[in-house]
Amino acid sequence: MKNVLTFQKLKDNNEKIAMLTAYDYSTAQVLDSAGIDGILVGDSLAMVALGYENTYNITIDEMLIFVKAVARGAKNSFIIGDMPFMSYNLSIEQGLENASKMIKSGAHAIKLEGCNDHIIELTKRCVESGIPVLGHLGFTPQMMNTIGGHKVQGKTADNTEKILICAKKLEEAGAFAVVLELMPEVSAEYITRNLNIPTIGIGGGKYCSGQIVVTDDILGKFTDFTPKFIKKFANIHDTALQGVNSYIKEVKEGLFPSQKETFDLEESEKTKLIK
Ligand code: KIV
Repeated sequence: MKNVLTFQKLKDNNEKIAMLTAYDYSTAQVLDSAGIDGILVGDSLAMVALGYENTYNITIDEMLIFVKAVARGAKNSFIIGDMPFMSYNLSIEQGLENASKMIKSGAHAIKLEGCNDHIIELTKRCVESGIPVLGHLGFTPQMMNTIGGHKVQGKTADNTEKILICAKKLEEAGAFAVVLELMPEVSAEYITRNLNIPTIGIGGGKYCSGQIVVTDDILGKFTDFTPKFIKKFANIHDTALQGVNSYIKEVKEGLFPSQKETFDLEESEKTKLIK
């Protein structure tokens, strides 16, 4: 059973940490069987599973449905519930209350975006209350409107230093790891080298302590757009399309269901139905 200590242990042993997202029971089962180090029930599900344009529209109560499904499917993985937009920004009490809902729904930890004073205080209070926190720096999707779109962060040495200061504050507050999203490889490597806790890159190059991506992206299931940092390891969309096309064809041609997929009736009963 993976737990919060798995992350630091892997980093200290110079082993990479492999994380993926999951939003549903059967995907969680696949990741769990494969021995993934951590599963994030990311708010990306607003776009990937629910078809919204961005992550702003998902609520904490909706997130909990997906967290519960993943927890039922992944029995050995470390599950992190992503705190959605405005579910932790109003007050420490609001953040703690919603973080505790995540844990009660089966998550083992939560993820918070950013590092202003409120987030640092909330991180401390969560950790003190028994809720491990994964930080998230670099490009933080919940700030997209403020940043002005999907922009690579840490593009100057100064900016990289600022992100490192943030990461160190999160480390001091007790975060067990920090996601670094959309950053030049050298910047993410610099931050990784100067932190004790692991960094988990997404579009941050290979020198982070581990990697996370959206499962539906790497398996070719979500096809609305493909970020530059995504490599496709399978093509579920095309495989599924082929399967559905074959199903339609066989139904139309009367080939499905065949005898094999059909329930039989005793001969003596059959005769009673011939009129
Ligand atoms: O919501 C999400 O899926 C994320 C990424 C880090 C994968 O935040």
